Amino acid sequence: MNALSGKSMDESGQDQLISRFQAARRDPELAVLEGFHALKHAIRFKAALHAVVTHNLGGLELLAEQLAPDVRDTITEHAQAVRYELFEQCSPGDQETGVISLAARPVITHEMLQALSHDAPVVLLESPSHLGNIGAVVRVSAAAGAAAVLTTGSHDPWHPHSIRGSAGLHFAIPVVRTDEYALAGRPLIAIDPDGDELQPASIPANAVLAFGSERSGLSDALLKRADARLRIPMEPAVSSLNLATAVAVVLYAWRLRRDS
Ligand SMILES: C[S@@+](CC[C@H](N)C(=O)[O-])C[C@H]1O[C@@H](n2cnc3c(N)ncnc32)[C@H](O)[C@@H]1O
Repeated sequence: MNALSGKSMDESGQDQLISRFQAARRDPELAVLEGFHALKHAIRFKAALHAVVTHNLGGLELLAEQLAPDVRDTITEHAQAVRYELFEQCSPGDQETGVISLAARPVITHEMLQALSHDAPVVLLESPSHLGNIGAVVRVSAAAGAAAVLTTGSHDPWHPHSIRGSAGLHFAIPVVRTDEYALAGRPLIAIDPDGDELQPASIPANAVLAFGSERSGLSDALLKRADARLRIPMEPAVSSLNLATAVAVVLYAWRLRRDS
């Protein structure tokens, strides 16, 4: 166990810890994991943990015991207990479970994306604007067994808010921002409210499934490149589904048919 009391940590140690967590938020090689569930999945999916800091070690161990006993020993081994005031500075914002962690982001190259199994689709989010939506998409993509989640645009899909939205399932599936979303041998399928009606059998297992941004949908450039456009049926007068909901519908349409 590596449990240090914040009181026994000298001032420079405390400053270093705060700086470390602040710097990690800008470090493209690190992931900041806010809360218990992100830590739980990071451990389950073999993330390299750099730090686990809590203001309530007993509470954290109890939570692990109750919710995820498989990760309890790893948490106990890594956790560093600090005073609440110090924790708050490492983890600004609301923190129900009183733990914040750092882990290495997996390195994902274009070659690795090309080499992914063609038995499952890749999800592409074109310029998503809500970090919570990105996280929810990663979560459902991991659950449904998609091959990867790619994003374009300005948002970092590994932003702490997005990792919180995925409950740490970023470690279960490749997640990367890239403009090179065309993957050899994979048809590009635009999921678009103006497409042809989606039939579960019309989703190729090896597709790149492209979803548009929350406000403006898919760009004309992507729609022109697409091999097909599919729409999720909706009742009249409903304009669209939420982005993450649309991803869930399409992935589970594919998966339920695969398993039928
Ligand atoms: C909130 S919607 C964007 C709505 C946007 N105003 C539009 O016209 O496309 C975000 C994305 O979810 C997907 N989506 C939502 N509802 C859909 C539907 N009924 N059929 C197909 N795709 C849908 C599309 O990929 C869309 O670009």
